[in-house]
Parts: sequence; structure tokens; C-alpha cells
Amino acid sequence: MEFSGENIDRYIDTVIKGQTSDLRIPPEACLVEGSLEPCTIVIFGATGDLTMRKLAPALYNLYLTGALPDSVIIVGAARSEMSHVQFRERIRDAVAGMDLSNWDRFAASLYYQPVQFESPDSFAQLSAVLHGLEKGRNPKGNKIFYLAIPPSFYASTAELLGTTGLSLERESGNGWVRIVVEKPFGRDLKTAVDLNRTLHKHFEEHQIFRIDHYLAKETVQNVLMFRFANAIFEPLWNRMFIDHMRITAAESLGVENRAQYYEESGVLRDMFQNHMLQLVSLVAMEPPSRMEADYIRDEKCKVFRSLRLLSPVDSTRQVVLGQYTAGTVDGKPVPGYRDEPGVNPNSRTPTFAMMKVFVDNWRWQGVPFYLTSGKRLAKKMTEIVIHFKKVPHSMFRGILGEGISSNLLTLGIYPDERIHLTFQTKNPGAKVCLRSVRMEFDYRQDYTGPVLDAYEKAIMDCIQGDHMLFWRQDGVELCWSFLDPLLEACGDCFDKGPELLFYEAGTWGPGADDAWRAD
Ligand code: BG6
Repeated sequence: MEFSGENIDRYIDTVIKGQTSDLRIPPEACLVEGSLEPCTIVIFGATGDLTMRKLAPALYNLYLTGALPDSVIIVGAARSEMSHVQFRERIRDAVAGMDLSNWDRFAASLYYQPVQFESPDSFAQLSAVLHGLEKGRNPKGNKIFYLAIPPSFYASTAELLGTTGLSLERESGNGWVRIVVEKPFGRDLKTAVDLNRTLHKHFEEHQIFRIDHYLAKETVQNVLMFRFANAIFEPLWNRMFIDHMRITAAESLGVENRAQYYEESGVLRDMFQNHMLQLVSLVAMEPPSRMEADYIRDEKCKVFRSLRLLSPVDSTRQVVLGQYTAGTVDGKPVPGYRDEPGVNPNSRTPTFAMMKVFVDNWRWQGVPFYLTSGKRLAKKMTEIVIHFKKVPHSMFRGILGEGISSNLLTLGIYPDERIHLTFQTKNPGAKVCLRSVRMEFDYRQDYTGPVLDAYEKAIMDCIQGDHMLFWRQDGVELCWSFLDPLLEACGDCFDKGPELLFYEAGTWGPGADDAWRAD
């Protein structure tokens, strides 16, 4: 064997260290590292929408794939009175479309305990019930408390978990206790700080998991792999080569049955303070030196800190806000936002926003990030599109008489879980004609292993104590600091900030043309 740099390294790996440098990993091995510790998952808000739509299917699917620990105990906790059997029936309805061949075994781990979120007695009873259930099955008493409840109950629930001693980790037995908090983390900087203070009265930062399901989407996680596990893109990933970025999370659904929450939050709090700014951080961040939670979250915070604040004048020039009126979606007539059940008929809550954002640092100076999200748009679609600069000089100008389209790199998140690069090629034939073509990678290509949905991944990470895909408080506060001035400017009256425009449901937003969608 002749030694070159590469095979010397391989030689060292295989012979001296007795390791192999073959990186092919069987798909099952990507699901979970080792077996998970026994634990109890208590879901507050166990009869609510989030539990039924997301948590129940996620837990059952994790059970089916063998990822959940065998001895897992799942306790539903909510205000209604209900027996274990009735609770199991409800959860069964929530997973009715899934493979039910293992249902009975899974159902045996489900329990229900009625809880009043402001009653110390109720929490004392919960504590006793958990203690009884855990005997033998979860001797260390590892626990996750999942707050799938309205944010107005976060503070009292965290407080009562603390005063009943349920938040305490057992130092001697190494039993851990974690609390999962769903967004919104407050409704502005001040309330976010208050909420954090309440959580910290009884939980330490390592116990708090602030969930953002966008981060746990496979295609979103892949942004980091794509950028930092390939050498060819990063040299182009900056203001020298990128003209602008477009990040879109369009939904065709309306406000559904969440009017009470949505009226208070609107699209800025519902989608921008969290999901949209997380996507910005992933495409804009510097490479962390290690794939570890705090290394990554440090880099994200640097991006959040570099967001250029929108002055009142900027917010009128760089932000478009809209609200949907009646229209047609998927061929069916749908009501306008103000006619949705529970919505104020004069509501000024925005259901659509587009904003032009700048990241003021060396890499991104002058590159606009266009962020768009809205409800009742033409279709559900989430994607990040990187628009590269145009060629500096077109030698085809004389022949084609027109500009050459710039290269686009599209990171599809939903429904197209794919990455494609658009570039120009020559059409076959004697005449010089250019056309845009795509080089494409489908995320599932050559992969047959199990796939986890976002909530499944987040629950698994929480059981493993991995904070990588969860918000850290400094990030939450930095994003509120960025949005607060805009929220204040649009407040209730829109007299200082951007005007509220109206768009027909089923279109692409105010202006009702595809201008912003143009590639
Ligand atoms: C949630 C918002 O966080 O994200 C919802 O509260 C929105 O209003 C949802 O519909 C969108 O998530 P996804 O995964 O369907 O794009």
C-alpha cells in the first residue's frame, strides 16, 4: 500500500485505534442513541387540542417504533373528571388512523388524574398518584411535565409543581425532572422575563425545555447539516454571493378553533417571534465549533442580537400586515377572519405579515431577508429560498437581449421535503436559448428507515435531556426585543405603524398577486 495523507489517517484509525472510519450508519441507528431511561410523562391539558392532534399521535408512534422506554408511564392531567378507561378511549380516538395492533399494550401505560391548575390539594393528590404509579416501573422517579395548557396557567402550574416538591430532582438517585413549555413564551419582552422568573423559582435552566416544533422538523434540522457538513456551499454563503433570502411559511388553514388565543397573538407573535426568527438564525448563523446545544444556541443568539431594529418609519416601509376576508380555499368557500367564531367583528389582528429584515454583521451586511407568513393563503408551503447574485456581466446580452435569471437554492420544508438548485443551461438546438433547470435532492431519497415527526423528535430529545432543539431564554428575550417596537407600533390602532391591509382567503396575501412569490 502506498501511503497518501488520506490513507495514513485511515491506517491510523483502523489499525492503531482499532476503529473504522466508515461513516455508513444503518437507518435504525439514527433513531435513538442507546435505550431511554424509564420515565413518567405528565401532560397538563390532556384533553386539549394540542394533546389530541400532536402529542397523542407522537407518543403512540414513538411506542410503535420502539423508541419509548418500555416502562414509560403517561399521565393525562386536566380539569375534567374522567376515568383511566375514558381517557384511554379519547387517546385511542386521537390515533384511530394509525396501526392499532399494539394499542392494548400502549394503553396499559396511560393513566388519568383530574387536576385543578390553581389548587394545591389537587397537586398534592397528583404527587401521591405519581408516587404510587412509579413504584417498580420508574424507581428513580424521572419525570417530564408537559404544559399543553393555555399560557395563563403556566405560572400557577409551575408554582404548584414547585410547592408540592414535584420539581425537585433527586440528587442521590439521579432522578431527573423536566418541564416542557409551549410557545408563546410571554407576549412581549416584559412578560417573557416574568414567565422565566416564575419558572426559575422552582426549576433550574437545565430542567426547562421551551419547545419550538419547527426546530424539530427533519428538514429544518438539515439546514445545519447542509451548510456545515459540505464544504462547497459555505464559501458562497455571504453578502458577496447572496442577493437576498426569502423565508416563507404559508398556511391555507384559517384560525380554526383557536380564536381566543389568536386574537391575542396575531401572526407576529404566533409565527414570527419563534418559528420565523429561528429559521433566520439557522440560515444566517456562523458555524458553531461543536454540535452541542449551547454552542449552537450561542451562535443563534449572535444572529438575534444582530437583527436591525425596525424604527417606526422602517416598520411602515418594511412591513406589510394583512387580515383575510372571505374567499375560496381548495375549492370551498371560507369565511373572513372577522366572521370566524370567537373573533371580534372589528378585529385588527393581523393574520398575514411580510417583513424585510437585515442582519447587521460582517457576513450579511446589506442582504435583505424577506420573511412571510400568513393564514388562509393559497396553499400550505414552507420554504427557504436563497437568491444568489446575478452574473456580473452577461456575455449573452447581445443574443438574448434579456437578463439572466440568478441561481436559486431552495430548501423545501413543506410539502416538498427537498433541496433544489436552479441554474441556467442551453436549450438543445442551433439557436442560443437559455432555460432554467433544477438539480434536485428528495429528502427521503435512498432512505427507508424510520422517520420521526417534529413532536416525536422533541419528546425524544426531552427524555434524553438534549436542549439542542429548544429555545434558551436569552434567545427568547432577544427576539422579543426585536419585535416589541413593531408590536407597539401596530398595537390596536395601527396609527403609528404599518396599515392593516385585507386579502381574500385563498390568495397569496395583500395585493393578491404573486409578486413576492416570483422566483
Ligand atoms: C404553530 C402556530 O406554532 O405553528 C400555528 O401556533 C401554525 O398557528 C403552526 O398553524 C404551523 O406549524 P406547521 O408545522 O403546520 O407549519
